[in-house]
Order: sequence, then C-alpha cells, then structure tokens
Amino acid sequence: MDASTQKPVVLSGIQPSGHLTIGNYIGALKHWVRLQDSHQCLFVLVDLHAITVRQDPQDLRKRCYDFLALYLACGIDPGKSTVFVQSHVPAHAGLAWVLNCFTYMGELSRMTQFKDKARKHQANINVGLFAYPALMAADILLYQADLVPVGADQRQHLEIARDLALRFNGIYGQVFNVPEAYIPPVGARVMSLQDPASKMSKSDDNAANYLALLDPPEVARNKIKRAVTDCGAEIAYDPDQRPGISNLVSIYGALSGQDFSAIQAAYAGRGYAPFKADLAEMVAEFLKPIQQEYGKVRRDRAYMHSVLKAGASEAARRSGRTMDKVYRKLGFIEREA
Ligand code: TRP
Repeated sequence: MDASTQKPVVLSGIQPSGHLTIGNYIGALKHWVRLQDSHQCLFVLVDLHAITVRQDPQDLRKRCYDFLALYLACGIDPGKSTVFVQSHVPAHAGLAWVLNCFTYMGELSRMTQFKDKARKHQANINVGLFAYPALMAADILLYQADLVPVGADQRQHLEIARDLALRFNGIYGQVFNVPEAYIPPVGARVMSLQDPASKMSKSDDNAANYLALLDPPEVARNKIKRAVTDCGAEIAYDPDQRPGISNLVSIYGALSGQDFSAIQAAYAGRGYAPFKADLAEMVAEFLKPIQQEYGKVRRDRAYMHSVLKAGASEAARRSGRTMDKVYRKLGFIEREA
C-alpha cells in the first residue's frame, strides 16, 4: 500500500525489445491504463535487463524512446503513474547486488528463461543473464509492490521475487512486501496470426505473425486479411477446435467491446470475408489515434525527458526508503546526510 495515496502499488517492467503489438495492448497495456485510477502504478523501462544480451547502443537508445512514446500514446499517464528508466535509479543495481547474495545458484539454474536464452546466445552466457531474476526481484521489492502485471512466461521470476522477500524478511524482520502476480483476465491472450497455436510475440522474426501498434494501417489491414482461419466458414469462438478464427473473434471482441455470441450472431451465414474486412477496418481505426499521438510525443524529446526526470526523481525517493532500511538491517554504517 502506498502511504501517501493509500492505494495498492502496481509495478511492471517493460523490456525495450521487438515491436509492441496489439497483443501487448489487449493483454497488458489496456489493463494498466485502467489500473492507474485504482492503484499507485510504476512502469519501468528495464534497460539494465536489456544488456543481459548484447545490444547495439544506438538501437537500444532509440527503442527506449520508441517504447516510452508508445506507452504514453496508449494512455499511460505520467500525471497518475511513475514512468522511468531503470538505469536512472541506482537503487535497482544496488538492491540487485544485495539480493544476489541471498539467491542460490540452484534456484537460478532452474529458470526456463535462462535456459532458453543461454541456448540462443551461446557465445555470451554471462553472469548478468544468470542473475536476471534477482534484478527483477529488486525492481519489484524496492517499491513494496502489491501487484505485478506479468505474462505467464514471467511467473517463475515472480516466484523468486516472492521467495527472496520471504527469505530476507525471515532473517531481518519485515522489510519487503510480498508481491502477487497480476495475470490479465482470460480472453486477453492474443495468438499469432499465422500460427494461432502460439502466442503473438513482439520479437517474432516473421512480421506476418504480429500486428504491430506502429504498422501502417494498410499493412495492418493486409495482415488481418491474410491471417489463417480454419476450415469451415462460420464465425465462431472455439479456441480448441478453431484457433485461427477464434483469435480474430477475440481481437474483434477486445476492440469493439462486444461479446463473442453477439459477434457470432452478427456474422451468421456470411462467411469469413466480410468479417475479416470489418475487423481490418476496426484495427486500422483503432491504430490511427494511437499512431497520431505517438508521432507527437516521439518528436517532443523535451517532453519525454521531463516525464523521465520526474519519474526518476519520484522512484529514487521511494526506493531510497527501502534501500536505507535494507542497508541498516544488513549492518552497514549509516551514511551522513
Ligand atoms: N522480465 C520481464 C519481461 O521480460 C521484464 C521485467 C523486468 C519486469 N523487471 C520487471 C516485469 C519487474 C515485471 C516487474 O517481461
């Protein structure tokens, strides 16, 4: 709970990699925008996490701006939430080091993301990649977060954060709040357009699989029209038997607010073509205002910097309180102010 607002604290980290997709919007961003009213939210661009795999510096800097502008364009409101860059707040690296000293090699070796990434980047299996979950735990525990919105692939990391909080509290008394995962509501999982058995991924090599929030409307329309559907011609929501059309129905539902049975009824007996044409139009209309706002924000470097400056200063203030407590508990000599 945040002391000044009396609202529960939400924290989420954003990896500046790949292209944000309509799946990120429907599955995550849309809910975050809503959570901003009922919760004290912090959104961190996790550049320290990003360098666990080799990055091109110019590219990384550009992507951080791109992501920031797009989050703001989608409705993340710096008047309500704290938005900042991880490397601007030294406490993240500071607490990560402390937590490294409470994390066991065995726990980290079991992480499926580490195993996957180690396989992908065999020439660079670095200590940071291995210790990534301790840094993520630091992000969360520094702000005494109550709720952490994450995709299902991050559950294991969140479990470590909880274990570390409990372990530390067990030794030193109450220091960290023990966070809960916030998994978006069902139906929020958008699947790949060409392979509806797997999730729509922002880092997919094949751009036909995802709808990027920055795809030009013409490109987006074509991707919808070419999306795989199943044999049969009825518009239906049945993800097990008809994953292709069901995925499109669920995107339609998320953007229009209509429930699946209403959509099904509206297109009964009309086949895929008119449904896809309407959905393509709806997606293009949905993207338009976001892209317009994105363009404005992305050109305004001064505005982005002012958001990040305010965010970093608020984050430093809040994380500083936790850090002081941690250092005191560990037996470090207090620094004179
Ligand atoms: N590991 C998360 C991901 O890959 C990103 C992340 C870093 C994060 N720190 C976090 C998510 C803290 C939630 C809370 O998606």
